[in-house]
Amino acid sequence: MHIEFDILTLFPEMVEGFFSSSMLDRGQSKGVIDIRTHQLRNWAKDKHHKTDELPYGGGAGMVMKPEPIFAAVEDLRQPRSKVLYMAPDGVPLTSQLSRELAQQEHLIILSGHYEGVDQRVRDEIIDLEVSIGDYVLTNGTLAAAVLVDSVSRFIPGFLGDEKSLTEESFMSTLLAFPQYTRPADFRGMSVPEVLLSGDHAAIAKWRHEQQLEKTRQRRPDLSDT
Ligand code: ADE
Repeated sequence: MHIEFDILTLFPEMVEGFFSSSMLDRGQSKGVIDIRTHQLRNWAKDKHHKTDELPYGGGAGMVMKPEPIFAAVEDLRQPRSKVLYMAPDGVPLTSQLSRELAQQEHLIILSGHYEGVDQRVRDEIIDLEVSIGDYVLTNGTLAAAVLVDSVSRFIPGFLGDEKSLTEESFMSTLLAFPQYTRPADFRGMSVPEVLLSGDHAAIAKWRHEQQLEKTRQRRPDLSDT
């Protein structure tokens, strides 16, 4: 499996370091993903490479113009591309959505800025609008990077150890259990006895109880069991 990501943004430098680090860098070397960032301004054909304008009808802020976005998407589009728009009023990014998007071959991701983009872009070329949470960022570039990271983890061959996907938090709608490593005693704080016992059934039971308790305390909305 392999996914190509094309990210359209006014601030490619915000995420270039992120994409060339750690797992996303390794994913690209392994050929599981391709990530390309593009400066949207390059598609603005006027002398000043203008990408925003005042809103019709008045109001605060600026709106991203349709022409550069249409031109960029027309250039980048492939027969099976899906075009996403990162916006605080999109559908919430969840583990489930990331898993679904990992089935795609090519994602073009538009990052918004200012008061958003001209509605004709949203109506005509965007397949799905995605929010990474109920807060407003100064622009959608970091949100696009979050989506790329979270989708990549679901592409077979990306993680190497696919088991970590099935065991991880949110797959079972329970939060993660606590992890410990060496040393067994650190500054008088000791690792729970059960984890040193070698009793796999007891360990599994303890971990499940910890998950239930943490989920009950922090995210009662996730499970009512
Ligand atoms: N752009 C600004 N805020 C955002 C958010 N919460 N999610 C996605 N894109 C955004």
